[in-house]
Amino acid sequence: MSTPGDGAAEQAPPPSSSTETDAITEDIITVTIGATVPTGFEHTAAEEIEEKIGVEARISKDRGRVYFPITTDKLYQVHLLKSVDNLFVVVEEYDHYQFKESKEDTLEELQQLASKLPWNNALKVWKLNGALKKKKGHRKGGSAAKVKPNSEASAATAADNEQQELPEDHVSATDGQTETESSPEEEGTPRAKIIKFRVTCNRAGDKHSFSSNEAARDFGGAVQEFFQWKADMTKFDIEVLLNIHKEEMVIGIALTEESLHRRNISHFGPTTLRSTLCYGMLRLCKPQASDVILDPMCGTGAIPLEGAIEFTSSFYVAGDNNDMAVNRTVNNICHIQRRRADKGSVSGLPIDTVQWDLCNLPIRTGSVDIIITDMPFGKRMGSRKKNWDLYPSCLREMARVCRPGSGKAVLLTQDKKCFSKAISRMGGLWRKLHTVWVNVGGLHAGVYLLKRTGAVFGQTPEDVYESRGTVNTQVHKEDDKDLS
Ligand SMILES: C[S@@+](CC[C@H](N)C(=O)[O-])C[C@H]1O[C@@H](n2cnc3c(N)ncnc32)[C@H](O)[C@@H]1O
Repeated sequence: MSTPGDGAAEQAPPPSSSTETDAITEDIITVTIGATVPTGFEHTAAEEIEEKIGVEARISKDRGRVYFPITTDKLYQVHLLKSVDNLFVVVEEYDHYQFKESKEDTLEELQQLASKLPWNNALKVWKLNGALKKKKGHRKGGSAAKVKPNSEASAATAADNEQQELPEDHVSATDGQTETESSPEEEGTPRAKIIKFRVTCNRAGDKHSFSSNEAARDFGGAVQEFFQWKADMTKFDIEVLLNIHKEEMVIGIALTEESLHRRNISHFGPTTLRSTLCYGMLRLCKPQASDVILDPMCGTGAIPLEGAIEFTSSFYVAGDNNDMAVNRTVNNICHIQRRRADKGSVSGLPIDTVQWDLCNLPIRTGSVDIIITDMPFGKRMGSRKKNWDLYPSCLREMARVCRPGSGKAVLLTQDKKCFSKAISRMGGLWRKLHTVWVNVGGLHAGVYLLKRTGAVFGQTPEDVYESRGTVNTQVHKEDDKDLS
């Protein structure tokens, strides 16, 4: 973490061509990686990072971001994390950047900053990242990816330690974008590569005198001048990120061209959930070996599919009452199965699909370990009015099939009022343990972790409530911790 003005500590020589930035050595360096994650699931991401990479992640004040240190031999593993959306390597970060009062002064300072930043390590990581992707492209298609011998060696060191391959969607978005450009008179001689770049600024906070566009434009202009790169908003090799959240400012270089949540779904529906959010929900209920896990309103199957891929010792049943949704789920499962078969995998996914009405499940009482689902919010799917009937019916039927005493449910909804009311009327069949507040497509929603109490279904005070017509207020509020 730096203070404004001390950025000259490790100044990069301005690499105007690829020959300078190609200088990747075998040296292992330590850098800070930043990751965007579904808001509310920052702790889940930190947990995964600690578990898989063995380092502690710092949760940013800016919700939806985590930061963690890695040595470059771990770069490959970073791309295999399941809770992160976008990755970048940090060039510099300022916890308390004192932005100037006037717009002109601030923009002037941002321009000056460009040449003072310690770009070197971040650029090395960007280059290594590209080499890893090209190596993956080379393995996959067999087509000759042009990797410099020394880069190839670095990539091999990192990649060959791993059994898995980089996620499919991560393969080749920059391949083809890093082509060199040359003038006719250069033909026949080794071509100097002109790097194309863009600056993306994300700004939050109401005390700034400048807009994100102005910051990106002026900082970008100075970056261009310093490195002699060429600005290109669409076909860029490097994306420089300028993240400003109140007085926190982080400058980074993107390591992903598109979010890593795009990994499982090929047949989308109107409300398909991000795989990273599905992963967070799954981790919340801690699947155990041989658990039977139900998504009774599966839509495109995003949740059970992520579960069947990542928590493979459980068995998943995906159901929906809509035949188009069921077809999409089947197609999504088949697509993944084919992809795995192409890579030589012989094992199928532990998942089955059924068309059913959740309010009347063809499942034995008390036989399911975990129910995990994304309920209709009543906006794009269903209606608020219908939810008043649907939510109590489905919570009751879920309570019937869920194992008393140990069963769990992780339910996502934005219709919080209706959900809370329905839970309060379940006669103690469910107990709320945690709520994680998340942002789903701009909507503030809750992921509720419920525990199935030991109450026997059909013999609960709910029956008393039904017959007396009084409101049952047995809600365990003291257990409801807000994790967000
Ligand atoms: C919010 S969507 C689920 C989206 C899903 N998580 C995905 O990623 O595609 C809710 C789903 O509940 C289904 N649904 C609504 N009422 C149902 C019922 N009574 N029984 C079964 N499914 C139902 C809808 O057809 C819809 O697919």
